[in-house]
Amino acid sequence: MSDETKVAVLGAGTMGHGIAQVCAASGYRVSVSDPTAAALEKGERGVRDSLDRMVAKGKIDGATREAVLGRIAWGTELATAVEGAGVVIEAVPEKMELKRELLLRVDGLAPPNALLASNTSSLSITELASTLREPARLVGLHFFNPVPVMELLEIVRGIRTTDATVDQALAFAARVGKTPIVVRDIPGFATSRLGVALGAEAIRMLEQGVASAEDIDRAMELGYRHPMGPLKLTDLVGLDVRLAILDHLHRELGEQFRAPALLRQMVRAGKLGKKSGEGFYKW
Ligand code: 3HC
Repeated sequence: MSDETKVAVLGAGTMGHGIAQVCAASGYRVSVSDPTAAALEKGERGVRDSLDRMVAKGKIDGATREAVLGRIAWGTELATAVEGAGVVIEAVPEKMELKRELLLRVDGLAPPNALLASNTSSLSITELASTLREPARLVGLHFFNPVPVMELLEIVRGIRTTDATVDQALAFAARVGKTPIVVRDIPGFATSRLGVALGAEAIRMLEQGVASAEDIDRAMELGYRHPMGPLKLTDLVGLDVRLAILDHLHRELGEQFRAPALLRQMVRAGKLGKKSGEGFYKW
């Protein structure tokens, strides 16, 4: 793909703006669309903060920061974002109908040879593709938070995803400097299934009073060398995101994924973790 290849990122939230930053830093032109101006502003601020941090650490210089920001366009119009794109990545909330409806619109707007991707954490790529004119060109491109830091890109192959599409996804992974794994379209893939299992068990342990949130996290950080304990990580990912994944895996895979009552209560109370200022910790 040439430097002129455009990537459209749909959704300016935690994942969307991180994906936009990484693509722009790899030389792509990026167009981010989100229906709300406030979300776009917040996303742009997130990219600026992350780049500022990299400048402060001496990882990039000020000119690179400006170049990355200059390669990202922000807007509310889906058609404008998708026009002329070589890669389209949706990163909207984890709801099947929302994603399906959006991808259906993209299918009619994006150039015919564009790679279509979903950043879903657990939903079926096969099902998301089922109503598209060309289901063969949809693939899962699952990024990890914080996107500029995390090395993995999980590539999810739906039943109708072709080899050519997977090859395009692998080339994209190489271009953005991520290490890919290719997984089958089984609910929760290779990452979320294990990630939420650990997170949910930590919440149940908190409910049972096994130890404080801090000590449950410390146990995994110091005893197992996890970079971040499971409750802090749930705050980082978003309690609402983890609840949506658990509810989906509970329906698909069974009882071991039943969401803890505490998680549901906290989401209902608006305690969504880092993004809302409070979860298991105050941020
Ligand atoms: N942008 C740019 N750089 C960042 C950054 C950001 N948003 N966040 C952290 N960094 C950099 C820091 O500047 C620092 O750089 P340095 O090594 O050169 O000093 C480095 O990353 C480490 O950051 P910190 O020193 O601030 O703090 P930590 O050492 O505690 O690392 C962390 C922070 C990278 C978040 C680490 O705790 C970690 O890896 N946590 C686990 C994250 C994880 O598991 N993510 C996956 C979640 S699941 C998911 O996303 C899937 C989805 O579908 C839900």
